[in-house]
Amino acid sequence: MRDIEDLLGELIEAERAYRDGSPVMEDKVFDGLRDELAAHPSAAEHEGAQTFLNSVAGGVIEAGDVEHLTPMLSLDKITDEEGLQKFLATLSEEQTVLVTPKLDGIALSIVFEEGKLARMVTRGDGRTGTDVTHNRRIVANVPDSIDAPGRVEVRGEVVMTHEDMAAAAEGRGEAFKNRRNPIGPALARPSHSTKTYDVPTRFIAYSADLESEAGDQALGWLASKGFVTIVDDAFGSAVLPADPTVVMATIEAIGEVTRDPAYDYFCDGVVVSATDPAERDRLGLGSRTPKWAKAYKFASEVGIGILERIELDVGKTGGISFTGVLAEPVSIAGTMVQRASLHNPDQIARQGLFIGARVTVSKMNDIIPQIVALTEEQDITDPELYVAPTTCPKCEQDLNFDKVRPKCMNPECALLTRMTNAVGRNAFDLDGASGVLMEKAIDAGLVSNIADVFALTADEWRTLDGVEGSADKIVAETQRALKGTRLDNVLAGLQIRWVNQTFARRLADHFRTLEAVRDATLEQLFEVEAIKEKRGTEMKEDLVKVTPVINRLLDLGLEPLPMPERVDVESSDHPLAGKKVLVTGTIDGMSRTEVKEALIAVGAKPAGSPSKSVDIAYAGEGAGPAKLDKITALGIELHTGEEFLAALAATTGAPGDDAENDAEQGALFGEADG
Ligand code: IVH
Repeated sequence: MRDIEDLLGELIEAERAYRDGSPVMEDKVFDGLRDELAAHPSAAEHEGAQTFLNSVAGGVIEAGDVEHLTPMLSLDKITDEEGLQKFLATLSEEQTVLVTPKLDGIALSIVFEEGKLARMVTRGDGRTGTDVTHNRRIVANVPDSIDAPGRVEVRGEVVMTHEDMAAAAEGRGEAFKNRRNPIGPALARPSHSTKTYDVPTRFIAYSADLESEAGDQALGWLASKGFVTIVDDAFGSAVLPADPTVVMATIEAIGEVTRDPAYDYFCDGVVVSATDPAERDRLGLGSRTPKWAKAYKFASEVGIGILERIELDVGKTGGISFTGVLAEPVSIAGTMVQRASLHNPDQIARQGLFIGARVTVSKMNDIIPQIVALTEEQDITDPELYVAPTTCPKCEQDLNFDKVRPKCMNPECALLTRMTNAVGRNAFDLDGASGVLMEKAIDAGLVSNIADVFALTADEWRTLDGVEGSADKIVAETQRALKGTRLDNVLAGLQIRWVNQTFARRLADHFRTLEAVRDATLEQLFEVEAIKEKRGTEMKEDLVKVTPVINRLLDLGLEPLPMPERVDVESSDHPLAGKKVLVTGTIDGMSRTEVKEALIAVGAKPAGSPSKSVDIAYAGEGAGPAKLDKITALGIELHTGEEFLAALAATTGAPGDDAENDAEQGALFGEADG
């Protein structure tokens, strides 16, 4: 029997993570734990448990408080051709079906009264939902008013595209684990919320309850009122005869298109519905699902591998993360996966994981690979279950297990993480100064902050084990870095909370000198994009703390290189200036970062994936066929890699920079804060 405090602690943490948009477990697992809590013998007398059970509904989606005009139904699932055949056989002869991708977002009902948007309500439990009208500005494609008398209810799915995700992650300073989870909490965010980042989403309409006249043409009618509907070109929808072979082929084609990582929407199946409203009426409704539509669910793509080891890592503030490493990489949904995240020791124990286990790995809700479960067949018959270490993998001190995620409380250990980051590639980039060297220097009491690294003499370095021969080189390297590190990298090296590459670049662009950043008031920090309340306050606190370190660095001769001037797009005469450019595949061995920097330098905006807003695309070696299809389908100008090089070589504007695009470089926090 699990301790009730543990169980409750884990649930509360999971609920909080969910609200933050980074769920740490699947809904099923959450529900299971919640049931376990409800059934716990001490639950009835436990005040905390009661509060939790009463405030968090079964399932992480809460029923809201606004009743829907008519229930928002769900769909029965089918998973194979046989199920499809059965369904199509229930339709009258000569009937057609509408085949549309099933977008996995948050279902929303929007009611217009006399043409004015009256309210927006989430699906909730289907009967009642949450009124989210106050957040309508974060949902694109919703007109404030439409030309339609009376009351009209429009239903659809709120989703996020890749671009929306990048923007949200950028503002938040941390990536989201998938494209669905940020939506619910963002829609429900109260107006007085202190969350500062934006979560841009968009609405894709799939139905309208029209008064008789336009009834059978609801989607066309919606499009004419300015909605983006599920049958718009981008989605691959089709109207087809109710013939299983034809419909199946289209389902497979949609599966192929939507599985491509470049597809802009997250899709978990296909909805097949009778097209004709009279036929829908004839087939009618079951208790909670219509009989005129089915959801064909794609099996989520999984790979099977052998768990070779579990790696532990310590974050900036001491949190321990667990990563499962497979013996061989496996292919899942188009990418090779060898490392998959594991939640925490409790979850690992629940899954019964052991080294050598055969496990299924999936890219749950599309982005980060996770170990899902043991497979049925195992090679090892008498396994020794994995037991998480109780000591820190770096400093070997006892870990703190107060929260589900263990934490190393040793300040020196966090120091090592910070020092290793500070001398690393995104900061001072000292050649030859590894984590191992930092550990030795910390242990010997030679360094306790980054300024110490620059103050050490060759003789002092030489006292460290194994450093005898390279001491002079290290000193030469620190001298080089004092004059050769760009301001944003210097800022990243100071290890200030929230200051990852993106924010380092924004601060550097805004303040231009290290002294100006050091002396910035809170109000001045707030002038920088996406620095608000908590983030600004904590930055300021840390800036005050590192001021002596900054001053010492300056005394030691630190002269950060200035940030490049931004390109004035208006006055640049480069042919790509101001254009949004997509480069796919490899061109002349350039890395993604190099391509991006080259584009920024000529005043172009690099694009991450094909979309309507892309002006020009260049395809290099190994460009994926699906991406190329998408580019052509969107009517984007497509050129070769050689043409890209030629375009870059055209008269260039001033070299430039753009903080907007950093998010894609993966310069994101492992942990948001302590
Ligand atoms: S048609 C009776 N079309 O799937 C509902 N629904 O399981 C008929 N969904 O919550 C809706 N994509 O929000 C329809 N292309 C699509 C859809 C779609 C996603 C959602 C819908 C509902 C759930 C039903």
